[in-house]
Amino acid sequence: MLTQSQRVFGLTRRTAFNFVRHVSKYPPTIDLDGKLYKTDEWTNVPPQILSLTERQLHQDPNHPIGILRDLIEKNFRGLGYTFYNNFRPTVTTFQNFDVLGFPQDHPGRSKLDTYYLNKEHLLRTHTSAHEHECFQECETPGYFITADVYRRDEIDRTHYPAFHQMEGARLWSKNTKDLEKQLENDIAAIPPTEIIVEDPFRDAPFNVENPKQTYMSDNEVRLISTHLKKTLEYLVNLVFEEAKKSAIKAGSTEEYLNEPLKVRWVEAYFPWTSPSWEIEVWWKGEWLECCGCGLVQQQVLLNSGLPEDRLGWAFGIGLDRIAMLLFGIPDIRLFWSRDERFGKQFLEGQISTFQPFSKYPGVRRDVSYWVNGDNALHTNDLMEIVRAHGGDLIESVVLKDEFEHPKTGKKSQCYSIHYQSMERTLTNAEINKIHSNVEGDLVNTFQVEIR
Ligand code: DAH
Repeated sequence: MLTQSQRVFGLTRRTAFNFVRHVSKYPPTIDLDGKLYKTDEWTNVPPQILSLTERQLHQDPNHPIGILRDLIEKNFRGLGYTFYNNFRPTVTTFQNFDVLGFPQDHPGRSKLDTYYLNKEHLLRTHTSAHEHECFQECETPGYFITADVYRRDEIDRTHYPAFHQMEGARLWSKNTKDLEKQLENDIAAIPPTEIIVEDPFRDAPFNVENPKQTYMSDNEVRLISTHLKKTLEYLVNLVFEEAKKSAIKAGSTEEYLNEPLKVRWVEAYFPWTSPSWEIEVWWKGEWLECCGCGLVQQQVLLNSGLPEDRLGWAFGIGLDRIAMLLFGIPDIRLFWSRDERFGKQFLEGQISTFQPFSKYPGVRRDVSYWVNGDNALHTNDLMEIVRAHGGDLIESVVLKDEFEHPKTGKKSQCYSIHYQSMERTLTNAEINKIHSNVEGDLVNTFQVEIR
C-alpha cells in the first residue's frame, strides 16, 4: 500500500502515471448540450458514453422504449399528471444526490459506479435527480418523468451502461378541506385491476424499521400509501397484461400466461422516501423486482421550496427490462442498434414481438493477469476498459477464476470476454486486435501482469 505522503506528493511511479493518464485521456473541457465542462480528477466519462446521450430512445415513437413510454402515458392521461420527457442527462451532484438526502459516503456517489464530467457534474444515475425541479414547477397534482440514465456496470444480456427510467410523483396539501375524504375519492378514481396482490403492509404501512414521518397522521400515511400502491398496481397490470398478450400472439403456450397476474410488496429503503417499498411481479416462475417507491421525505419537498403542508408519494421504474419482456428482445444492446432490421420492426402504438435476424457467431477470449498489489482494479474499471475497446461487440464479461498464490500472495484474475456482433460475423483478426488493446490498456492503466 502507498503511504499517505507518497499519495500526496506523487513520489511513486503509480501516482505519476495516474497524472499522465488523466492528461492524456480526457480533453481539458467536455462540450455537452452547448455547455463546457472543465475536466478534473473526477472525470471518468468516456466519449462513447457521451455519444449515447444524443440518442433519446424514449422520445422515438417507433422505438420499443418510446412505445412503452407512450403506452403508460396514454393510460395515465386525464388522471392529473404532467409528462416530462425532455430533461438533458447532465445534472449536478446536488440534484442527483444532495437534495435527495444521500449520505456523503453512499456508494452511488463513487466514481466506480457513476460517470462524472467533473467533480460537480455527472450523467444522472436516476430520474429522481429531477424530482426537485418538477416539484418546483409542476402545476398538476402529479407528474411523470422519463429519461435516459447512466451507470457504470457489468456487461451482460440485461445490463448496459445507459438505460431508461420513468419517475412518478403525486402531492396533496394538508390544507385541503377534508383531506381524508379527498384521498378516498382519489383512490376510488384509480382504474381497478384484477391483479392478485400480496401486501402484508397495506393496513400497517409503517413500523420501526420502515418509519412514518412525524408530520403525517397515521391515517394520511395509510391513505397515501394505498393511493401509491393502487397506482403502481394499475401501471404494472397494464404493462404486464400487454406482455402476456404479446407472448401469446408470438405462439407461446406457457402455463403462466393463463394465470392472473400476481404482485407482492416488500419493504425497501431509499434516502428520500419513508416508508418505502418495492413491487415485485411473478413472471415466468420468479419474482421480478420492478419498481421502488415510497412517501416523499418532507425535507425533499422543503428543499424544493414547497410549503410545509405538502405530502405525497414518488416511484421510479426501469423501462428497459420491461420493454425486453414486452417485445421479446433477447439482448439489451439491440435497443441501441442502428441496424434497420431492428428499427423497422417497431411501430408507434403497437406491441409486436421481435423477429430475430440471424445471430452471428460469437468468439470467446480469456484475459488472465496478476493484479498489481498497489493498484486496485475494480470490476467496473475492467468493464469500462473492455467497453472502451470493444464497444457494442461485447456481449458479456464474466469472472471465470480468481485465486491468490499461496507463496507470493499475488492475486490472479481471469475474465472471459464474449465478443459478438448483432450485425455481422467478426473476423479473428479484428477480435485479436481489440483483445490485445484491452490487455495493453490493463497493463498501462493498472500495471497488471498478463499471464
Ligand atoms: N431512483 C431509484 C433507483 O434508481 C428508484 C426510485 C425509488 C425512485 C423510490 C423513487 C422512489 O422516486 O420513491 O433505483
